[in-house]
Amino acid sequence: MTIPVLSTMPHHVAIVMDGNGRWAHQHFLPRIAGHKQGVTALRRCVKACVARGIGVLTVFAFSSENWRRPQEEVSGLMDLLARAVASEVTELQQNGVRLHFVGDRQRLSDAMQAAFSKAEAVTASNTGLVLNICFNYGGRWDIAQAAKKVADSGQAITELALDRALALAHVADPDLLIRTGGELRISNFLLWQAAYAELYFTDKLWPEFDETALDEAIAFFRSRERRFGQTSAQLTPSVSGQPVKVA
Ligand code: IPE
Ligand code: IPE
Ligand code: MG
Repeated sequence: MTIPVLSTMPHHVAIVMDGNGRWAHQHFLPRIAGHKQGVTALRRCVKACVARGIGVLTVFAFSSENWRRPQEEVSGLMDLLARAVASEVTELQQNGVRLHFVGDRQRLSDAMQAAFSKAEAVTASNTGLVLNICFNYGGRWDIAQAAKKVADSGQAITELALDRALALAHVADPDLLIRTGGELRISNFLLWQAAYAELYFTDKLWPEFDETALDEAIAFFRSRERRFGQTSAQLTPSVSGQPVKVA
């Protein structure tokens, strides 16, 4: 057996925060109560990431496809986010968090767009955790808007040009992608950026995702050998240049 090169802490953690509706159902509550509890879980997760020195946290809060939900749930989610942005900014500020909203803002209300811009401006000079909130975001939207930007600028469409035009160009690609709620799918999240992310799926519903659950995901990440297309031997050179063998 070759001793694997164990990864250190993930720099960038991305999360599909799924399972709010099922959590509410289990507690005989309306779906929106599950989303409220989801905001609490996010607050807890942000603090835990700050405490662990994680550089970037990117969360999926509302997908391009979530507009297909009942109107009442969609407007409830908009309302909840608008309130959360207003009420959380001070604490985020105290924790040195820099906020970014990622997604197509055109379909959002003027008030919402203004709230996003204000929260981004207020936290712009913070140097701690970068928190990307993906809202009205879809991986396909992102790739299409980046391609349009590159084409409009007259540049050749190369991987580098697209990478720089994507909505997450301000951060490195995610190292660890977590999905709560038990589904084994990506649901149009970070299609480009997750190319080499370690994927971690847990049955835990998002409102129940706590520090211990985050540590379990990080432990999983640290047990992976990240080869990026190379062989294991290339990653574990010994003094003799041969991979280190045990047992
Ligand atoms: C994720 O929880 C939050 C959003 C998609 C906004 P869900 O609302 O999808 O919860 P489930 O999957 O119905 O349990
Ligand atoms: C993905 O969850 C989107 C967010 C968590 C915001 P969904 O619940 O919308 O995903 P599907 O519909 O089950 O694939
Ligand atoms: Mg869901």
